[in-house]
Amino acid sequence: MILGILQARCSSSRLPNKVMLPILGRPMLELEIERIKRSKKIDELILATSTDTKDDALEKLAKVNNIKCYRGSLDDVLDRFMGAIKLWPTATHIVRLTGDCPLIDSAIIDQVIDLHLANDNDYTSNTLEPTYPDGLDVEVFKRECIEQAANEATLKSQREHVTLFIHQQPKKYKLGCLKNDTDLSALRWTVDEPEDFRLVTRIFDGLYGTKSNFSKADIVEFFKLNPALEQFNSHHKRNAGLALSLQDDFSLSRTGEPKTLIFRKVTIRDLDLLLEWRNDLATQLASISSAPVSRSEHQQWLQTSLTSHNRQLYIVEEIRPLANHVPIGTIRLDKRENEWELSWTVAPQARGKGLGKLMVVQATRLIDEPLVAVIKKSNYPSARIAEFAGFKLIETRGDLTHWKKL
Ligand SMILES: CC(C)(COP(=O)(O)OP(=O)(O)OC[C@H]1O[C@@H](n2cnc3c(N)ncnc32)[C@H](O)[C@@H]1OP(=O)(O)O)[C@@H](O)C(=O)NCCC(=O)NCCS
Repeated sequence: MILGILQARCSSSRLPNKVMLPILGRPMLELEIERIKRSKKIDELILATSTDTKDDALEKLAKVNNIKCYRGSLDDVLDRFMGAIKLWPTATHIVRLTGDCPLIDSAIIDQVIDLHLANDNDYTSNTLEPTYPDGLDVEVFKRECIEQAANEATLKSQREHVTLFIHQQPKKYKLGCLKNDTDLSALRWTVDEPEDFRLVTRIFDGLYGTKSNFSKADIVEFFKLNPALEQFNSHHKRNAGLALSLQDDFSLSRTGEPKTLIFRKVTIRDLDLLLEWRNDLATQLASISSAPVSRSEHQQWLQTSLTSHNRQLYIVEEIRPLANHVPIGTIRLDKRENEWELSWTVAPQARGKGLGKLMVVQATRLIDEPLVAVIKKSNYPSARIAEFAGFKLIETRGDLTHWKKL
């Protein structure tokens, strides 16, 4: 039996009470429930909310919409899920849906379920490699995997983001991902911020009257007719909530301020920023080939890097309250035989604030295989960073030190 669990709460920090905000005169969550109910593969849908009195309204909403409601922990969402799952002993697969995705498309839910069952995956989503607009998120997993996560996951982020424990471990669990034909991952259809809500309201206003079960394709068409909509909320970043939660697992920066970092994949548009950082004197001195690089050499290097399967490049950005995301450094991962080499650079203006340490600790979580780092003997700050991130010094050859983290 396939059990759908829709998690929702009223106490969201960025847009309080968002799930109850009215669209077309109805609570946003009710429209989402209506859309999920069109799934042909979900046998039973349950709303999982918290025991907080602020969420009493959600229990009522579930009743009015004729679906069950389970109330559990506010922050330990994994525990809340287990409470809901225990009510259905026959549920073998669980579909996780979240109350911030009112544009969810039931056809995509069913495609993720089909892929999951056909490949006998432990976990399947359409988000591991994002190609769908942010806000059409579907995750499906086996009951035994979530039971294991509930027993073993210890980090706050793993308890809050329910499935993190599973998809952080690609060696342990068989993972699958449904991909869209074209990459629409830059579109943001989730509701976290006031601009997101305004965009989603415009979409419902524009489409629901003529076709209440409008699909992803209908929204894409609607965007073509209203091109300004695409830029409406595009400055907000995907998974900011997850980034905040990962940050909670780590220490604060040296100044004692909490810092929130996110990792985004480098694109060709980052060419000049990376070149500036690469040709900064301290970076030149820290690099194994220490000569400055020309723009054309750098461009060639970046183009090759972006198409290589053996290299991952990230820009690390700090999310500052009331400001845009500020790029503070870059992380490179290069695949060697059974391990990855990790290297890092902190932007000149961001150095000496403890960001190198935070950034590298978080980067070590990107890969579930042994990591190595090669650092010049003279680069004391980087050696401190490597130690802090759990690397052990293996050997010194010439002026290079070799580090490993299992
Ligand atoms: C080396 C580099 C990554 C350090 O980043 P950072 O954000 O300034 O480092 P942090 O503030 O996290 O500090 C890390 C450690 O180095 C120490 N440190 C930082 N700058 C220092 C300096 N100028 N002199 C002495 N120690 C310094 C810090 O005190 C800290 O040590 P602690 O744990 O004992 O407190 C950054 O300077 C850089 O990008 N340099 C150029 C490129 C480079 O060296 N890349 C690494 C190649 S392996």
